[in-house]
Amino acid sequence: MEKRDFMYEGKAKRMFTTDDPAYCIVEYKDSLTAFNALKKDSIEGKGQLNNLISSALFEYLASKGVETHFVRRLDDVRQLVRKVSIVPIEVVVRNITTGSLCKRLGVEENRALARPLLELYLKDDALGDPIITEDHALLFGWSTEEQLAKIKDVSLTVNTLLTDYFAHLGIILVDFKLEFGVDGTGKLLLADEISPDTCRFWDAETKKKLDKDRFRKDLGDVLGAYREIWRRVSEGSK
Ligand code: TMP
Repeated sequence: MEKRDFMYEGKAKRMFTTDDPAYCIVEYKDSLTAFNALKKDSIEGKGQLNNLISSALFEYLASKGVETHFVRRLDDVRQLVRKVSIVPIEVVVRNITTGSLCKRLGVEENRALARPLLELYLKDDALGDPIITEDHALLFGWSTEEQLAKIKDVSLTVNTLLTDYFAHLGIILVDFKLEFGVDGTGKLLLADEISPDTCRFWDAETKKKLDKDRFRKDLGDVLGAYREIWRRVSEGSK
């Protein structure tokens, strides 16, 4: 599939058209941002690691019946994906309390939740991705009732699958963010990426943070943490 024209650029990826309008090429960048891009850096090799990790996780989820935009990894930094129109909702699933949940509600950090907590955020950088309710999503037309039901169902399924997958690698899946899109035939697909940029991963034994919190909180060795996730994911899928 030929890479054609540049389409648009996000904080961590670039999108390109291909010669087939049903497919796009996504290119993972080395740039890292936090706090709605108030904090920025670039770490050589980060894009490649996220591409490898995200590709492996999409392949794993597809093997378990989750429908995703992922087609195949093309090279170190690029994937072929189905072209989708992104639903402007970011879904966060949490297993352990931390991050914005604790800041917003004042609840204690590091508490294992009795069941997964699912939250919806409006995908709008200008507004700082505010948290929304299902009613907001439906009344303002950000998703249909049918899409929302599927988005919630698939997100919780992904949580069950990935929690188990990472547990076998000695990693606790603390929380993560998913995005969904609708393809040309109207089908809802899991989209975007699943990587240490979009998940919180803790080492099960030491509780060491192995994700973008190392960048957000200036904990050092960001790339080492991403490499460790890729090492375990690649070992685990042998
Ligand atoms: P939060 O605690 O900051 O709301 O983050 C929850 C999860 O969502 C965490 O795994 C990081 C991920 N996340 C993103 O992928 N993109 C974002 O813009 C934010 C704020 C969080």
